[in-house]
Amino acid sequence: MPFSIKDLPWGKDALKGISAKTNEIHHDKLYAGYVTKRNEIEEALKTADRSKSAATYSPYRALKLEETFNADGQILHELYFETLGGDGKPTDGPFVRKVRLDFGSWEAFVEDAIACAKAARGWMITAYDPTDGKIRNFLADAHNHGGVWGSVPLWTIDCYEHAYFIDYGSDRKAYIQAVLNNVNWDAVNARFAVVAK
Ligand SMILES: [Fe+2]
Repeated sequence: MPFSIKDLPWGKDALKGISAKTNEIHHDKLYAGYVTKRNEIEEALKTADRSKSAATYSPYRALKLEETFNADGQILHELYFETLGGDGKPTDGPFVRKVRLDFGSWEAFVEDAIACAKAARGWMITAYDPTDGKIRNFLADAHNHGGVWGSVPLWTIDCYEHAYFIDYGSDRKAYIQAVLNNVNWDAVNARFAVVAK
């Protein structure tokens, strides 16, 4: 069963400070491209020549490398879109309460998320880390670099230039604030409620 392209959960012009043009390119071209390529790779893997597999170069290795790139590109973009479309105000719920415990305050969590998003070349990913049961902000320089095994992503900021250059040029800080103004924290609370069970 091929992976399907999910619709945006909000209208393309629904975000404050992130334009319909950016959302259209981001969803219809870039995100859709990851899903399409993932399906192509899945198909190619069915008949790939395993006998010539090598770590220096082999078609099989190329497929396996791009499999994780496109799978993680799909997964992270779906999370990014799913958790936008709100008013940015933290609502009471299991995620917000856990963050206050783990970071000491909501403000400390947001400060760390902003710092992480400014430092990342790809993604800031807020995740539940089962190693010690805490929520952390992880940095990934590419879709498939920087993931922590076993952790469950709950919220993310796409830090690639394609997410903000049309609207903000090189002013990533202004874009990060725009994302914060549009987060649907109810959606993040709901994701964490499933993990907490
Ligand atoms: Fe993106």
